[in-house]
Amino acid sequence: MLPKAELHVHIEGTFEPELIFAIAERNRVEVPYPSVEALRSAYQFSDLQSFLNLYYAGMNVLKTEQDFFDLAMAYFAKASAQGVVHSELFFDPQAHIARGVPFEVVINGLDQAVRQSKQTHGLSSSLIMCFLRDLTAESAMEVFNQSLAHGDKFVAVGLDSAEVGNPPSKFKNVFDKARAEGFVTVAHAGEEGPPEYVWQAIDLLKVSRIDHGVRSLEDSKLVEALKEQAIPLTVCPLSNVKLKVFSSMAEHNIKKMLDLGLNATVNSDDPAYFGGYVEDNFTAVRQALNLSKAEEIQLCRNSINAAFIDASEKAQYLSQLEKSAV
Ligand code: ADE
Ligand code: ZN
Repeated sequence: MLPKAELHVHIEGTFEPELIFAIAERNRVEVPYPSVEALRSAYQFSDLQSFLNLYYAGMNVLKTEQDFFDLAMAYFAKASAQGVVHSELFFDPQAHIARGVPFEVVINGLDQAVRQSKQTHGLSSSLIMCFLRDLTAESAMEVFNQSLAHGDKFVAVGLDSAEVGNPPSKFKNVFDKARAEGFVTVAHAGEEGPPEYVWQAIDLLKVSRIDHGVRSLEDSKLVEALKEQAIPLTVCPLSNVKLKVFSSMAEHNIKKMLDLGLNATVNSDDPAYFGGYVEDNFTAVRQALNLSKAEEIQLCRNSINAAFIDASEKAQYLSQLEKSAV
């Protein structure tokens, strides 16, 4: 197993049914399913929205700092066992604030886990605060202003949730402000939405990476721009198949991305819902697309190079990769 960075994982999407039930019991709240098995068997999706409905329902049981800490520590244990040496976690503060859970509770619980993961697993990590694109631009600005008191606890801002009908242009002002405050930016684009949304994420939101971006290949000029600007794509193969972006893994375009010279990486997105963590994604792609060892190493190298870490950390992880690749 090769060392790699994971750059596209929603912490709320790592919430395994067993932990949902355990935390629900601790907090004395009801899960609207009779058992772990019944909940897990509901994980059949027709598109992004059908998944998001269950994803937002699952996180309802999270109430305390301890809950967010436990959630992240459970993810770090799984990720570490799958060769992840560095991870950048998305979190969705608006989904928690709307339920009456204060921003501080969410970020403090996650921040403590980020610190602990280095000690427990030797795994470095950081947080990326996402705006929910199906809410208003005003709501995004409000949560961003609130987050500034905790600006030392996250490294970037991102954009997630229901893509179609919610273009990046809607969030230009808050992304301008985030960059002015010193944050780098990323955005989900070209998952279900058209190549135009990827253009907007690059040109208007000035993103450092595109999350998903698989529909970029429909636009050859966009492929050229992504190559020219060396913009990494955080691709999530199992997610794309589960949410019917591709009809099967054999249809997935990640190998094509490498052939085109794009800077693709492999990630798990919402591993508790999509059937696997990052190494499981590598295994699925390897089997369906006959990836060579050299291509797999390239995907891992891309992930380390695309991480928001300093040059000395990158050099250290890259040398770890080159050593284990022989
Ligand atoms: N939130 C959690 N997972 C997501 C995905 N794959 N796309 C958009 N928003 C998400
Ligand atoms: Zn995602």
